[in-house]
Amino acid sequence: MNASFAARVAETARAVDSALAALLPVAEGPERRLTEAMRYAALGPGKRLRPVFVLETGRMFDLPEPALLRAACAVECVHAYSLVHDDLPCMDDDDLRRGRPTTHKAFDEATAVLAGDSLQTVAFELLADPETHPDGAVRAELVRRLAVASGAKGMAGGQMIDLLGVRDDLGAVARMQRMKTGALIVCAFELPAVMARAPEAESRALTAFAQDLGLAYQIVDDLLDAEGDPALLGKAAGGKDAEKGKANYVTLLGVDQAKERLRVLIEQTKSHLDPFGPRARHLRAAVDFVLDRRN
Ligand code: IPE
Ligand code: IPE
Ligand code: MG
Ligand code: MG
Ligand code: MG
Repeated sequence: MNASFAARVAETARAVDSALAALLPVAEGPERRLTEAMRYAALGPGKRLRPVFVLETGRMFDLPEPALLRAACAVECVHAYSLVHDDLPCMDDDDLRRGRPTTHKAFDEATAVLAGDSLQTVAFELLADPETHPDGAVRAELVRRLAVASGAKGMAGGQMIDLLGVRDDLGAVARMQRMKTGALIVCAFELPAVMARAPEAESRALTAFAQDLGLAYQIVDDLLDAEGDPALLGKAAGGKDAEKGKANYVTLLGVDQAKERLRVLIEQTKSHLDPFGPRARHLRAAVDFVLDRRN
């Protein structure tokens, strides 16, 4: 990856962490246990990929940084909530996340459920606040987009399909992925376009770009599950999906074919940014950032 973009991503991630720390609630009463669990889950050492997507897209549209940080934190809060619930014993039953005990291990299951619930509601509170955008209609559209991306037709629906198990059908795996991880990634690119009231053609190009990037992200995730270093990943790996009998791009295509598909997909992904010309240089760099990740 381009070293100067890596430094830019690290700086953006730091700004997101400060914003998250300031925006997440702190409580003094007995409910303090809940706000501590929310902070533990959201402020853990994640990559902050989705917030970087929000910020780089918003910068392309010259949107103000404080408003972008709020939208970025909203998306990250939904992501953090999805991870807390994903790791629960009733779902993937994982003990390690981001190199640390999962939230239900560090606290307890009931607290983890409530922390996930409350991270989700914080996200909508952030988007609905006039500090995110002065126009109420724009704010309503931000809330609607995040709700659709997170719910039964997006992330949660994809998680349901995952729990039921997809076996040997690449089309079904692709659909599950589009819902489970793709929808929130696409949302990260769409929220700034909504905030900027971007022209229809630009919004469409961005969505197409984000859909391909989401797919590329998942193929990399599946390759890391098969071939990644668990010490770097900070979560269980070692063919965890295959072991559970779950189909993914790598179990269905094999490592070599999955890598070839990824190579073709990367070119296609970047080509969606052609209409933006040099304005999209940081989004092009973000594609390499996704692909070069080791965790
Ligand atoms: C992990 O997401 C879970 C999936 C959606 C596959 P990330 O790879 O973005 O995880 P963090 O936020 O860096 O921990
Ligand atoms: C998690 O997918 C996706 C969401 C939390 C929406 P996985 O279960 O494959 O993610 P990891 O491997 O635990 O990070
Ligand atoms: Mg899962
Ligand atoms: Mg999991
Ligand atoms: Mg995975």
